[in-house]
Amino acid sequence: MTGAGSGIGRALAVDLAARGARLALSDVDRDGLEATAVRCEARGAEVRTDQLDVTEREAVLAYAAATRAHFGVVNQVYANAGIAYYGEVAREEFKDIERVLDVNFWGVVNTAKAFLPHLIDSGDGHVVAVSSLFGLITLPGQSSYSASKFAVRGFTESLRQEMLVARHPVRVSCVHPGGIRTSVARSAGVADGLDPDSVARVFDRRMALHSPEMAARTILTGVRRQRARILIGGEAKLFDLLNRVTPIGSQRFWAWYSRFLAVAPRKQAS
Ligand SMILES: NC(=O)c1ccc[n+]([C@@H]2O[C@H](COP(=O)([O-])OP(=O)(O)OC[C@H]3O[C@@H](n4cnc5c(N)ncnc54)[C@H](O)[C@@H]3O)[C@@H](O)[C@H]2O)c1
Repeated sequence: MTGAGSGIGRALAVDLAARGARLALSDVDRDGLEATAVRCEARGAEVRTDQLDVTEREAVLAYAAATRAHFGVVNQVYANAGIAYYGEVAREEFKDIERVLDVNFWGVVNTAKAFLPHLIDSGDGHVVAVSSLFGLITLPGQSSYSASKFAVRGFTESLRQEMLVARHPVRVSCVHPGGIRTSVARSAGVADGLDPDSVARVFDRRMALHSPEMAARTILTGVRRQRARILIGGEAKLFDLLNRVTPIGSQRFWAWYSRFLAVAPRKQAS
């Protein structure tokens, strides 16, 4: 699992530990990762931890090989690591857009591709890629994040089809969480001139409806049922439905609604 040091990844790891899984946990944040490992070990799980940045392709490939060598078999991979970013296209820097794509999209590609041969060899594999509600709908200020999460969805859905066509024993699920109470917004990047605290406040007050534990339970139920698409939260299902009924109407609705999600300008130092 990638991004196991916080939020949804941590809750998934703890839930899997309680179900008796042997776990390979990774994150770029060593302290967060160790804290997750302690909780999993307290539930009796065998845990391997690796500090890993999912954008470093060679490291991800080596990590997949080391995990296979360590456990002898790899049955499931959770490509969960991700970062949030808020900012209008006119304000954001190219390098910020690239960073969001690097972590959220290329991180999933690196992870899925590195583990795929091992999952096929297992005879009973599953790729679980974490996209977002913003991989189904878009909001103003979310162009980079949405682009990365739509890309995860496209990549993952095509991979699923390939596994079916080739009759490989690998299921593929794409996860679309609604608002989950994690530190994702607090760690988010923001475009120049915007107040990062305001982004986190808007997220905490208006969007973060569900606990990471609920998200983990929903994901693991979906994995057990071999769902291609796992939506988390009633709002994710409702907004997905609205988007399918009226894709352009949905865009207009969110453009209008975004006034209630307005992010404040950065405070000037006094
Ligand atoms: N929280 C939500 O409302 C929400 C909604 C939709 C989708 N998601 C997605 O769920 C996933 C998990 O997010 P979360 O909400 O638990 O956030 P989080 O910030 O609590 O956890 C994300 C984890 O990813 C790690 N990470 C960040 N960059 C990394 C990198 N380059 N390499 C390895 N690890 C890295 C962080 O250290 C952190 O531990 C993300 O992909 C996020 O986009 C979250």
